[in-house]
Amino acid sequence: RMSNAGAGLAADGMPSFAFAFDIDGVLLRSSQPIPGAPEALEYLHDNNIPFILLTNGGGKHESARVAELSKKLGVPLTEENFVQSHTPFKQLVEGSDTVDALEDKTILVTGGDGDKCRRVAEQYGFKNVVTPGDILMAYPSIWPFNQIFSDYYQNNTRPLPKPVDFRNPDKSLKIDAVFVFNDPRDWALDSQIILDLLLSKDGVLGTYSDKNGDSSLPNNGWLQDGQPMLFFSNPDLFWATDHHLPRLGQGGFQASLQGVWDATTKGAALSKTIIGKPHAATYKYAENVLQKHRADLLGGVDRMKRDVTKLDRVFMVGDNPESDIRGANEYESTDGTEWTSVLVKTGVFREGTEPAYKPDVIVKDVFDAVKWALKQEG
Ligand code: G3P
Ligand code: MG
Repeated sequence: RMSNAGAGLAADGMPSFAFAFDIDGVLLRSSQPIPGAPEALEYLHDNNIPFILLTNGGGKHESARVAELSKKLGVPLTEENFVQSHTPFKQLVEGSDTVDALEDKTILVTGGDGDKCRRVAEQYGFKNVVTPGDILMAYPSIWPFNQIFSDYYQNNTRPLPKPVDFRNPDKSLKIDAVFVFNDPRDWALDSQIILDLLLSKDGVLGTYSDKNGDSSLPNNGWLQDGQPMLFFSNPDLFWATDHHLPRLGQGGFQASLQGVWDATTKGAALSKTIIGKPHAATYKYAENVLQKHRADLLGGVDRMKRDVTKLDRVFMVGDNPESDIRGANEYESTDGTEWTSVLVKTGVFREGTEPAYKPDVIVKDVFDAVKWALKQEG
């Protein structure tokens, strides 16, 4: 049982700390809860200690995934305390300080099952979303070995919003940006189409520009004022599933695409933007989500509203030293919040090996992680 050691409760009973939990390898292995995970979250929920789930996973809209997770883990989760790999892409609909609004641009979205990621992108507000499957169905010759997947693509594609006419580029469909929302299923088709686009003149499929890849040269079709238009949501080379050994993640696809690019361009630079743990952009986004959720949770509502004391510390509980631990160790919070990294042995990290990024502590599982943290705050 957890001792409620008056853990880190400020005078007014508000905890000055919170948690960020990774999912795969910490709370779940594939679809199965890891022993102790439901109890750990139940304790925090019952004691009003704020937490968020921060995963490099994705493939469904946040609302759909939190409904599943709430059932599986036995605690009420909402979009207010849930961040997936591609959640921060929402910001690019309106644009950010480095990327112009992409709301009305034509974007290619790949990854995940069928066209679920397309529909997530549309729910985020992107208006013109095409998938590699749409392109294959419209132009089957673009990838010769597609017969074995044809019934799969039959049911998950839409007609292109405009034909591709590489002989009349100004009349042709033009792809303005490529997003990998989740692990691609058909690495071959996705690699061929992304390579075609990267080598194209300004995103018109079927054209070729030998200046691409070298951002020092003009008219690199894939830079919008120097900002790469190729976005990846998750760098994980491996992740923990119900297989006993870690499996290749989206980082595996990135490495494979990089290999094809290097072989094709003899090593020209490939401009890309990668988010997801361990990148600071994702930790910053997650910290904002956590701060807002904590204010709602602790501050009460309407006339009962109370001021919320400062968040001093976040315990990041993860299974992957390269993403969860590295990210928490390297993230510099502008709010002065201290991120403490807690590594569990139930996922990618193998006990007895030296973690590539040193956590503040190594514990058996998420239940022990919460007990350890409460003791620190005791
Ligand atoms: O695709 C999911 C995998 O990369 C790991 O996810 O929950 O361990 O960050 P997670
Ligand atoms: Mg994990």
